[in-house]
Amino acid sequence: MSNFTGKFAVVTGAAKGIGAGAVKRFLDDGIEKVAIVDMNLEAAEATAKELDPTGTRAFAFKCNVADYDDVDRCFDEIKAAFGRIDILVNSAGIVRDKTIINMPVEDWDLVLAVDLTSLVYCCKKVLPDMIEQDYGKIVNISSMGFGGAFGQSNYAAAKYGVIGLTRVIAKECAKYNITANSVCPAAVDTDMIKTIPPEILKVKMAAFPRNRACKVEELASVIAFLSSDDSSFVNGERIIVTDGRMCV
Ligand SMILES: NC(=O)c1ccc[n+]([C@@H]2O[C@H](COP(=O)([O-])OP(=O)(O)OC[C@H]3O[C@@H](n4cnc5c(N)ncnc54)[C@H](O)[C@@H]3O)[C@@H](O)[C@H]2O)c1
Repeated sequence: MSNFTGKFAVVTGAAKGIGAGAVKRFLDDGIEKVAIVDMNLEAAEATAKELDPTGTRAFAFKCNVADYDDVDRCFDEIKAAFGRIDILVNSAGIVRDKTIINMPVEDWDLVLAVDLTSLVYCCKKVLPDMIEQDYGKIVNISSMGFGGAFGQSNYAAAKYGVIGLTRVIAKECAKYNITANSVCPAAVDTDMIKTIPPEILKVKMAAFPRNRACKVEELASVIAFLSSDDSSFVNGERIIVTDGRMCV
């Protein structure tokens, strides 16, 4: 359990999946307020209601994080509502798999926009205030997909980019008591892996020592650690979360 008493967090892509798992963990660990940012407002509102039936600590905000004007508006709204932002978890992400020669440039552009450029937009909106308040925690959800799986040139480029971006933020902002770390899961039990054909998923799972994907709450524990003061000297890291799958 971490201690988020008095802290204010923003989680993107938090209507479901990993982002929603992080929101639940923040609420369980005493966060003051958390913003559930997602392009699907209906789902974000349902998640806020489910995780915080009191309606006083979790709030839904509609935003397409790949659109800078929308991010600008949304984060200004959150700042006006919360007064400050201590923690930013960038979890919004998509896949559009195709071999490079068959990949429409639109799919390349979209995945880079949602999975990489949006993180720059969101960080740019919170960092000036984090510097001013001399405190901040940034957690960027990358992926073991950075390694370059078949059919994922757009995803691999974006997720490798997330690792580099995170390291630069860590270096530039450490002196302001801001940490930035990325998390690299290989498979987490969310809707995203349900897009993988069952026969391919079975082979993928067999590579994991316990023959299963990471549970959302298991990843939320890692996010909570990196979002809390327990990780005050952990900065610029990419945390691999694969149950030992990557050990050779
Ligand atoms: N699930 C996995 O196996 C896995 C593994 C490695 C990394 N990841 C990464 O974890 C992150 C979360 O994945 P997930 O499994 O929770 O996915 P998910 O599909 O369950 O949830 C993604 C959420 O992001 C939102 N979203 C998508 N595009 C958006 C946009 N432009 N603006 C705002 N919101 C948007 C969706 O509405 C959805 O609520 C992603 O960055 C993904 O690449 C997932």
